[in-house]
Amino acid sequence: MSYRVRLPLLWLPFLLCQAAYAQPSLLQGNKSGEQVYKTVCHACHETGVAHAPKVGDRAAWAPLIEEGQHVLTGHAWVGVRAMPARGGTTEITLAEFARAVAYMARGSGGNWKDPDSKLLLQIVNEADKRLVKAIKEQQAMQRELHNLAKTAR
Ligand code: HEC
Repeated sequence: MSYRVRLPLLWLPFLLCQAAYAQPSLLQGNKSGEQVYKTVCHACHETGVAHAPKVGDRAAWAPLIEEGQHVLTGHAWVGVRAMPARGGTTEITLAEFARAVAYMARGSGGNWKDPDSKLLLQIVNEADKRLVKAIKEQQAMQRELHNLAKTAR
């Protein structure tokens, strides 16, 4: 092999490592919980608009913390009543959102840690269950509308 061919080959392991790091992972996203809270969630959760549980309100957070970290985070990610899905933004990843929930819980009497990939997978499963339920409810509504439309023919 000539020197001109061999030299670029030396880069190969390095390039492969880079590709591995660039792959999406559950832990994707560098923003801390505090950063996300202060830029996204704080608009509603500082003032308690529309009954958003205020950070620091231990009484409001106690039953939420009781639900468990993966359950509460999964439900909040897909949206709960006046709580918009993903906090109303597509600018944050699931890991960043989950860190924000943990940060809010820590400020309200809990001791939740920033989730690792194992906990994030549990959050994904919980969010998925919620979505399946919502999709079934919407399909039932759609069937009802279709049946109603048939009566008009
Ligand atoms: C536009 C206002 C708004 C923004 C922005 C918002 N929330 Fe909320 N959030 C709410 C409201 C309102 C509720 C209460 C929903 C209810 O129980 O009816 C809530 C509830 C929650 C809950 C409890 C969910 C449950 O199961 O009861 C969590 C956790 C939460 N928010 C996390 C977040 C995080 C994290 C962010 C930022 C990434 C965020 N929220 C941004 C309005 C907001």
